[in-house]
Amino acid sequence: MKQQLEKLEQEFKKSISEVNDILKLDELYQRFFSRKSGEMSEIMKNLKELSGEARKEFGKLANQVKSELEEIYTKRKGELQQHEWGNILEKECIDITQPKLSVEPKGHLHPITLVQNDLEDLFTSMGFMVLDGPELESDYYNFEAVNITATHPARDMQDTFYIKGHNQGDVSNDQSPWVMRTHTSPNQARALEKYGAPLRMIVPGRCFRNEATDARHEHTLYQVEGMVIDKDINFSHLKAVLEVVAKHLYGQETLVRFRPKYYPFVEPGVNGEVTCSLCKGSGCRVCKQSGWLEIFGAGMTHPNVIKECGLDPKEYQGFAFGFGLDRLVMLKYGIDEIRVMKSGDLKFLNQF
Ligand code: PHE
Repeated sequence: MKQQLEKLEQEFKKSISEVNDILKLDELYQRFFSRKSGEMSEIMKNLKELSGEARKEFGKLANQVKSELEEIYTKRKGELQQHEWGNILEKECIDITQPKLSVEPKGHLHPITLVQNDLEDLFTSMGFMVLDGPELESDYYNFEAVNITATHPARDMQDTFYIKGHNQGDVSNDQSPWVMRTHTSPNQARALEKYGAPLRMIVPGRCFRNEATDARHEHTLYQVEGMVIDKDINFSHLKAVLEVVAKHLYGQETLVRFRPKYYPFVEPGVNGEVTCSLCKGSGCRVCKQSGWLEIFGAGMTHPNVIKECGLDPKEYQGFAFGFGLDRLVMLKYGIDEIRVMKSGDLKFLNQF
């Protein structure tokens, strides 16, 4: 038994010198000193086999060994704890003497982008695709494909920047000159050619016009084009979609009215107005006392456009609309000067 005790003592000392984390240390302690199954308890179970004096003597010895080993255990535990705290402190320490890092001012989205994103979300929720088109466009797509022929007087309404040279043509007959697109409507034809019918899409983007600029006119402006082509589409579909948009932008109480307006690519064509969001229709400076604000052009797609894109207008009908995005932004935020939008003026931009 004495030998057993010595062996236990040696083994404990050897094992503890190899342990270097607290979890393992506690496991080791349990292995030797657990009341139920520890190696020490196993030895003590044999005590009853010894006679009176020998039992007393061995008991004393065993207790001595036990308290000696426990002392070693406590010491080692202290060391390991200190070591672990040291590690944590080292990892988590903050150098309070370090000078403050300079924080660069963060950028944010331009108000036009904010409203564009909002409209993209709204139209996506109604099943529209969001498409893109080229800013440098061919004369063919910008005018011809949307029913504005070369001698059409409507070209005067959108006089613009022509670029020297010719489009190499992404359709075989397209050798027409380049033009900075005057509207996003060329994408009506591009989308119809590419995706066919049924079609539901919007195209937000930048357009260019040869404008004498003033507080309400810019040479560079943003539009959001929209188009739906399908079987049995009629004017009430157009009305419903544009009412959803108007109410989304300016509140549920907003009314929409349509007045006839000529656009070569729609028939009938309308000019869409909403009740002024500022005076709620009673008349103010922004709506020029009329109570109404013009925010879009729209209409039923002209059969010539549908034909030009290779579909049969007797089978497919549809509608198209175009919002002036700058105008929507100006009305939403009460901005009365369009030119600040692209000025890069931080005094203006930092308000958003
Ligand atoms: N493209 C027209 C414009 O720039 C707007 C419009 C789009 C009108 C679609 C009707 C249908 O003024």
